Formats: sequence, structure tokens, C-alpha cells
Amino acid sequence: MNKLIWVVVYLCFSTVVFSCSKKDKDEEVTPVTPPPVVQTKTLKEKAAFPIGAAVTVAHLKDANFSNVFKAHHNQLTAEYEMKMKNLWASETQFTFSNADYLVDYATQNSMRVHGHTLLWYSSVPDWLKNANYDSTTFENHIKNFITTVVSRYKGKIASWDVANEIFADNGTLRDDATVTKIFKDPIRFYGRCFKYAREADPAVKLFYNDYDMVLNSTKRYYVKKMVERFKAEGYPIDGLGEQCHTTVWTNHTTFGTGLNDLASTGLLIHISELDMRVNQNKSDAYVYTDAEQQKQSDKYKSVAQIFEALPQAQKFAITIWGVSDKSTWLTGWWHPKEYPLLFDNSYNKKKAYEGFLAGLK
Ligand code: XIL
Repeated sequence: MNKLIWVVVYLCFSTVVFSCSKKDKDEEVTPVTPPPVVQTKTLKEKAAFPIGAAVTVAHLKDANFSNVFKAHHNQLTAEYEMKMKNLWASETQFTFSNADYLVDYATQNSMRVHGHTLLWYSSVPDWLKNANYDSTTFENHIKNFITTVVSRYKGKIASWDVANEIFADNGTLRDDATVTKIFKDPIRFYGRCFKYAREADPAVKLFYNDYDMVLNSTKRYYVKKMVERFKAEGYPIDGLGEQCHTTVWTNHTTFGTGLNDLASTGLLIHISELDMRVNQNKSDAYVYTDAEQQKQSDKYKSVAQIFEALPQAQKFAITIWGVSDKSTWLTGWWHPKEYPLLFDNSYNKKKAYEGFLAGLK
């Protein structure tokens, strides 16, 4: 009986040992190969030119926002905190604290800053609008503003939109209730403003910024005429910013032709405020389905590819007008059901992100 127990114990033990050593042997024969490491580059790592985003001080104080912004972007535009209304409280009073915060943040995170915008009809402070200055007094004030702001950030802000949206959709000058009212030749006034900016910081790049120059050939024609005049009359200009508040229903053949024609000026080209509306009919019933997201992704890819096809030396930057769908101006200006950016409400990458990334070289 005792003998039998020992035989059973021996058999069990040897089975365990055998099966263990067999396993060890198998592992030796077929070693597990680790999966290949996929290097997913971020936007700024992949692009050969800066990838910007429009931000506010409040955004940057939100850690989720700031982390995503820092990971993917290497250029910063103030969404509104560097506009005239926000900087110029009264004739003698400037308020720089928010603009300073943005510039310091960019410096600490090795980002380039694009200044937006010295002149814009929609951001003229009320005190200036209501002052009814004659052209000389008005221009002296504007010169003081440009000189003060540009020299404060000399060497820290790489480029400025000197003027924004001075043309109406039909190519005539927009009736802005100030400049067009008091100057006989407003284009020359704007030329002098570019010169004041250049004098304040000789190294800063100076841009004219507008929407639909790419799609609206009439407007583009008049912008190009202004550029020619600036060159002929000795006013400095380095680049053109196409805002590119675009849509999924935009025709990209027209878009490509227009962007190339803008580049025929030889100036730097900045896609300066890119976002992409999806809710064409401003419908409350709109659903952002997978198919809609894919359509948007394809268009983002195409925007990046069309920009990439420009001459290398003219690719200044692409700036996205925001980071997450959670805080886009379009839910107010267009429709609450809008999803125009690269990250969703929880800062996850969207299909749009993948499309845009794929379009970069
Ligand atoms: C918008 C901002 O996104 C809003 O937050 C602000 O209230 C109004 O201006 N063209 C421009 C930008 O040049 O400055 C505008 O930004 C969007 C349209």
C-alpha cells in the first residue's frame, strides 16, 4: 500500500516537472516578438512649418487645454486678447496683462507668437470711434498705438497682422465708419501703418489678413492690387493670411487655384484661422455621424495637402482657430451644433485630426 502511494506521488510530480520544462523549452524555440513601436508624430513634430492655434488666457489656465495645445502646436495666436479693443482702454491707457501672459507662456514653451491684429474695424474701441478725430489726429493716435504695441513685443512676437478684413466681399473697401470716412486714400493710410510697424520692429513679419481671398476671386484681385501698390510705393508687407474659416461643402479645386494665385504675389502665406463647419443648414437636428466626421477628415487632409504644395519658402504656418470643439467661436457665430476643430469636447483626437495629420508631409 505504502509503495503504491509513493508511485502515485512520483507520477504526479514528474508530470508537473515535465509540463513546466516543456513550456520553458517552447518559449525558447518561439520567442515572443514585441509589437513594432508605432511612432505617432504630433502635428508640430510632423510639419516642416509651425502649426499654430488661437488661444485665450483662460484656456491656458486649463491644464487639459494647455497640455494638448503644447503637445501639438508651436505657434500661438491670441483669439482676441491682442485686438485693439482689448489693449487700448483709453487715449493714454494700455492694458497689456493678458497679452503679456500669452507671450510669456509662448516663450516658456518655445512657441512662436503671431500677433493678431493691430487694425480691425470690428475691434475699434468706442472712445476712438466716438472721438471724431480729423485724419491727422486719428493717424497720430494709430501711429502711437502701433509703435507702443509692436515695440513692447519686439523680438518676442515674430509676426503681426497689421490690418484685418479691410475689403468687403465685392472687393471695394469695407465701410468701417472710421478710416474710410476720414481718409481720401485709405490704402495709403494702411501702407503707412505697415511702415509704422516695421519701424517699431525691423525684424517682425507683417501680414495682411482676410477671409475668402482664396475663394472669392474679385476680393483676391483687389488684395493683390493693394500688394502691388505697396511694393510700388515702398510700403513693407511680408505675407498674406487667409483666415480659412472653411466648410465641408467647400470646393477644393477652387480653393487650390485661389491659394496658388495668392502665392503668386511671392509673399509668405499663412492659413491663419482654420476651422471647418459641418452643419450646412444650421439645423437643430444635425447629427455629427461617423460619415460626417469622415467627410470633415478628408477635407482637412485636402487643406493640408493644398498648403503643402505651395513653394517651401512661402509656407509661413497653419493656425487652427481653437483646439477643442468645447470652445469654438462657431457654436455662437454659426450654430450650437458645430464641431469644427481637431479635438472633441474631451480633448480626444478626432477623425479630423487624423486627416489633417495625414495631409502634412
Ligand atoms: C473672433 C473670436 O474667435 C471671438 O472669440 C471674438 O469674440 C470675435 O472674433 N475673423 C477674425 C478673428 O479675424 O479675429 C475672429 O475671431 C473670427 C473672424
